[in-house]
Amino acid sequence: MISRAVSKSPLLIRGRLLSFLSEPESTDDEASYRYETDGGILVRDGVIEAVGDFAEIGAGVGKGVEVADHRPHLIMPGFIDAHAHMPQMQVIASYGAELLDWLNNYTFPAETKFADASHARRIAGHFLDMLIRHGTTTVAAYCSVHRASAEALFEAALLRDMRIIAGKVMMDRNAPDGLRDTPQSGYDDSKALIGRWHGKGRLSYAITPRFAITSTAEQMEMAGALAAEHPELHIQTHLSENHAEIALAEELFPDRTDYTDIYDHYGLTGPKTLFGHCIHLSEREADVLADSESVAVFCPTSNLFLGSGLFDYQRYRKRGKTLRVAAATDVGGGTNYSMLRTMDEGYKVIALQGEKLNPLAAFWQVTLGNAQALSLDERVGALEPGREADFVVLDASATPAMQVRAETIETLAEELFLLQTMGDDRAIVETYVAGKPMKSGLEG
Ligand code: GUN
Ligand code: ZN
Repeated sequence: MISRAVSKSPLLIRGRLLSFLSEPESTDDEASYRYETDGGILVRDGVIEAVGDFAEIGAGVGKGVEVADHRPHLIMPGFIDAHAHMPQMQVIASYGAELLDWLNNYTFPAETKFADASHARRIAGHFLDMLIRHGTTTVAAYCSVHRASAEALFEAALLRDMRIIAGKVMMDRNAPDGLRDTPQSGYDDSKALIGRWHGKGRLSYAITPRFAITSTAEQMEMAGALAAEHPELHIQTHLSENHAEIALAEELFPDRTDYTDIYDHYGLTGPKTLFGHCIHLSEREADVLADSESVAVFCPTSNLFLGSGLFDYQRYRKRGKTLRVAAATDVGGGTNYSMLRTMDEGYKVIALQGEKLNPLAAFWQVTLGNAQALSLDERVGALEPGREADFVVLDASATPAMQVRAETIETLAEELFLLQTMGDDRAIVETYVAGKPMKSGLEG
């Protein structure tokens, strides 16, 4: 079994610190965050031991403690990506199709290759390194239908001591040979993976019926049974992404009221269920998600790339029954690993609907907001003693174009909006995973 030694010696990280306490209501909402202009984070055994003013934190530790000085850069909790597909690294930039053709022509053939465990291991390592390079320290990830693909991703995450949620997709119809399981094998493989990986290190298993179109009623029932046996587990799937998809799902389950009712009927809604996309929900469907405390996952780069539609973020946040919302890349329908690029596109999607997303709220969303949506906020998403030591160090002057623009920046909100609008992996100075600098990879 692969394992990675956790460093026992403490580390003191210095820089400007930003951590959210609640969802910011405006750019003036100073009560929603904590900001230290010269802050220190004391890390021991992968966990935050103390955080605050550098001089105060520094005074409490012995002289021998190693200091990582990131001044003048901005340190935040590591970004969280609430929905991405590990086996789709080589699907990004596939031309000219909407969802169902894109799945059939590009995605399913690429995922078929994950029957090969060595291919799965190679891509799983690249996938996590790519996320880390872009400042992301936690992901809720889909693997392929093959059990080996999930084994590969969990192994790679354990090696990097990363907190991830992942599962093998269950899919027993409307997919090519080599890419289908059966209701029984999907259940058995998921059960074996849960037993082997869930709760090991920082790993969590997610029951992952791909979507209603690729699962028979029997498989949906088995997924529901598994969820009932394991109420502690996340569930992740896709919902209401594209009009042709919605029509086909409703045709395949004619007894159900609508697409959302398919999942609800099989016991797959709830506070740990992450529904990717949720673009075209009726009010009834939005009520079902709200009442069950399910999470709607906003995937702006994917929704734009596949021409799926505009997620109405502010409608969901402000309606009578508010929806829990997360944000995600959805690589490889999504076109970038960066949560900065994701929220840049997210801002534009929201703007197209006559609304705004203030930059404090955008950074809340990709840190504490996503941690709450993933029920992980007691572990990650904030710079607080006892939380796991996952951080991103950001430079708003990382490129020549950013540098010129940064000359006129006066406020924290302006700095964040510049990072979001112009930033990518070049703006990530470092990414700490469980207290270790990891941007350069495992050996870095
Ligand atoms: N719906 C079912 N599978 C997928 C997938 O892999 N990507 C996206 N964007 N939508 C899906
Ligand atoms: Zn997806």
